[in-house]
Parts: sequence; C-alpha cells; structure tokens
Amino acid sequence: MQPLSSFGSFPATRLRRLRRWDWVRQMVQETHLSSANLIWPIFVIDGKGSTEPIKTMPGVERMSVDLAAEAAERAASLGIGGIAIFPVTPPGLKSEDGRHAIDSENLICRATRAIRERCGDKLGIVCDVALDPYTSHGHDGVIIDNYVANDETVSILCEQAINQARAGATVIAPSDMMDGRIGAIRKALDDAGFQHVTIMSYAAKYASAFYGPFRDAVGSAKNLGGASKKTYQMNPANTDEAIREVALDIQEGADIVMVKPGMPYLDIVRRLHDSFSIPVAVYQVSGEYAMLKMASSAGALNEKECVLESMMAFRRAGASCILTYFAEQVAEWLNVAE
Ligand code: PBG
Repeated sequence: MQPLSSFGSFPATRLRRLRRWDWVRQMVQETHLSSANLIWPIFVIDGKGSTEPIKTMPGVERMSVDLAAEAAERAASLGIGGIAIFPVTPPGLKSEDGRHAIDSENLICRATRAIRERCGDKLGIVCDVALDPYTSHGHDGVIIDNYVANDETVSILCEQAINQARAGATVIAPSDMMDGRIGAIRKALDDAGFQHVTIMSYAAKYASAFYGPFRDAVGSAKNLGGASKKTYQMNPANTDEAIREVALDIQEGADIVMVKPGMPYLDIVRRLHDSFSIPVAVYQVSGEYAMLKMASSAGALNEKECVLESMMAFRRAGASCILTYFAEQVAEWLNVAE
C-alpha cells in the first residue's frame, strides 16, 4: 500500500479533472474490452436450417449444425475469440453411463467438424467435457452406489476429450468437477497425439442455482429431477477452496482456469487473478443472462449499457476471457463503437 499522503489531498487534488472530458476519461481508462476476450456458448440440435427458442433464455435459440457453422463464421468475422458448443442430446440417446459422449457421430462432434471446416483456426472451438448432456439421470458422471463415481467418470471423460479433439476441438473444457480429471485428460490427449489442444478447466465451478435456464436449454433439468450437484460442484460459501482447485488444476496441466458463475463470483475472479499467473476465464451463466435480458425487456434496465458494464466488470476483476450468451451482440456493439 502507498502511504495515504502520496495520494494528495483536496483542494490541490481534484479527481474530477480526470473525468471532465471524453478524451481524458478514455486516456486514463484502466481496463479495456475487446471481442477477442469473448467466447460465445451456443446450443446445437439435430436437423437442418432449424432453430428452437428457449423459453427461459429469450433471444437465444438452439440451432442445427449448419446454422451453428454459420454462427461461428459470423463470430469469427466479428473478432470473437471462441465458440463453445453445447449439444441438446435427443432423449433416446441418453443412458445411465452417458456412452453417447464418446460417439464420433454425436452432435458436438458433428458441429465441431462443421465449424472447423468452415472457420479453420480463425476462432477457438471449445468443447465441454462432462457427461450431463448424455446421462439419463442428468449428472456429470456415472452413478455407482448412489454416488457420482469419480475415477470411473474420469476414465470416460478422457475418451470423451479424445473424441472431441479428433473432431477438431482446439479447446477442451472439462466442466464436470471430478478430482484429477485435468491431469488424466492432459495425459490422454498427449498420448493420442493432441499435445497442442488447450485445456480450459472449469476449475472453480460452484453448485449454483443460476444454471437453471441452461438445464432447460439442453434438456437436463428433467433428467436431474431436482437432484443437486453439490457432491462435486463447489459450495458457494467457499473461496479458499477455489485456490486449492486452481492450484491442483495448474499442476495437472490446465492452460486457462475458469470461474463460474460470473457476476456473483467476481471476488473469486479477482482472487485467482492475484494469486496465480495463469489466464482466468469467467462464465456469465444462463441465469445471469436471463436476469439481464428479462429486466431489459421489462424496461427496467438499459440492455446495452448494463451488458457492457457487466463485461467491463469481468475484465476489471481480472478475467482474460468471458463466456457470455451476449457475445455476438457485444461484439457488434464494440465493432460499431470502434
Ligand atoms: C454442464 C454445464 C453446465 C453449464 C455449463 N456446463 C450446467 C451444470 O453444471 O449443471 C452451465 C452454463 C450456464 O448456466 O449457462 N456440466
């Protein structure tokens, strides 16, 4: 800490001088936001040329693989850093052990191939690793003796990651919160020849009620039937534990670590950014999207200003990378402003 006296004092010091004109406000601005900081999560369905609205996420649509490839191309041309693909698995393909996760013809692999073909390496292709889109019970892992079994799940997750890397994923994002999965996935990817595939770990992922609309969007809410993920996702009351999670993930080979949700967890973003020299990502989750969107359409908030403010808050807290359903919209706003 600097001694208080070195900050100056009134009336010689008037901080409003640095806020008087637009040019000076911009000159001393400490944090900046660019579309390169953004990752756009999308929901993919079967079919061709088809979209479906999501009731709890107005303005977001599930889209078929061909439209996902078009969306990725728009994202790339807007300078968005990456696209994160979430499959809406047809109920008939869900099972106890989520084995459809390792099928090379599943939706996420088809979407990954289509996007890679269309966009090459112009933007990151982020594939989520976890079993919840594929399990009949909606959990992120396999259940043995009434418990989401850690080590058995991790070995399936390794196969899932390799399956996605083969399809062309450039970023593997494990969101399952099993112990030891980052090290196991890193080794599995390396052994399969995917040394250059990045791992973005959902390292500090909390057992949050703000994921509600996402579970509607991918159809896992019904499967979960009210069950919670508290035996693997973090307790929202904890912050030291986030340090332990991230320290382990870094040792195990994570390239980027994520905090999730976003706005209610800015303290965690800041703490991780201050504690480790590794890029931090933050996920503005479905419930946060719904809050901003619904309050804006009800006329209570100015959507553009509030969304951009939330983006800047993530950057200010120390995030390099922001996953947000507003990504395309934000990139359009930023491109107009430039
Ligand atoms: C699945 C996963 C979830 C989200 C991303 N990956 C939901 C969950 O853990 O239940 C949530 C994203 C959002 O709410 O926007 N492992």
